Amino acid sequence: MKVLVLGASGATGKLVVQQFVKRNIQVRIIVRETAILPSQISADKKIEIIKGNISDFEITKIKDIVKDCDSVICCLGHNLSFKGIYGSPRKLVSNAVSKIIEAMQSLNIYPKFILMSTTAYTNRKIEEVDDFREKIIFSLLEVLLPPHKDNMLAAYELVHKLSSKTSIEWVAVRPDSLFDEENVSKYEIHNNKIRSAIFNSGKTSRINVSHFMAELVTNEKLWQEWKFKTPVIYNKEFDS
Ligand SMILES: NC(=O)c1ccc[n+]([C@@H]2O[C@H](COP(=O)([O-])OP(=O)(O)OC[C@H]3O[C@@H](n4cnc5c(N)ncnc54)[C@H](OP(=O)(O)O)[C@@H]3O)[C@@H](O)[C@H]2O)c1
Repeated sequence: MKVLVLGASGATGKLVVQQFVKRNIQVRIIVRETAILPSQISADKKIEIIKGNISDFEITKIKDIVKDCDSVICCLGHNLSFKGIYGSPRKLVSNAVSKIIEAMQSLNIYPKFILMSTTAYTNRKIEEVDDFREKIIFSLLEVLLPPHKDNMLAAYELVHKLSSKTSIEWVAVRPDSLFDEENVSKYEIHNNKIRSAIFNSGKTSRINVSHFMAELVTNEKLWQEWKFKTPVIYNKEFDS
């Protein structure tokens, strides 16, 4: 089995890579020339590292990278700097998602595709609704915060453009407010948001996101349960 991870130098992406290494699964990553990787990744000969920026890759190159992969996971996100938020590429995530889908469709191969999305995405297909205050804030964010708009477009690509009427099986994992903790802890997965992402957000550790993504790839029953869905992941507040 081989998994391609985009955004593998990021705070969540590198944990995703480590989850697969732990499970003895081959990993291929695409990282920018400037990316800083932990030595467990950079020195691991079993991890195939492709240097470059997915935004600059032609479709033929992406096809070549994807063609022997069983799963593709996108943990890309805009850096929280002025350049990362307002510079180009403004459609970093959504363009990467489109390119991966185009590559899969033209190769006629269908690896599992997992997107790291967010609870800021409201899935209207499952009748999620924002209340009046949330609507105003999300609308403002779409105008003022290009990375927010990009994340919405990326999820839209899967939920509305691909939908479930496609050979490409996908899951858009929606964590709430991300934080770091060392070990995997108990977490819960819901079909819908159970709290307001703006006014009452929950917490999700990046390591739990990485664990859930790795389980989706390796546990067929879990994949069947969540494919074509946008599961929300929260850390369990109390151990029970
Ligand atoms: N913050 C939250 O509470 C929250 C909640 C839910 C979802 N999310 C979303 O989750 C995703 C991942 O979060 P994270 O904290 O793990 O992200 P992160 O640490 O910022 O990682 C972002 C990844 O994207 C890459 N990247 C950034 N700009 C790029 C560009 N212009 N070209 C190519 N690659 C680029 C980074 O590469 P470099 O290492 O080279 O910079 C890195 O690998 C984001 O989309 C975020 O919006 C966030």
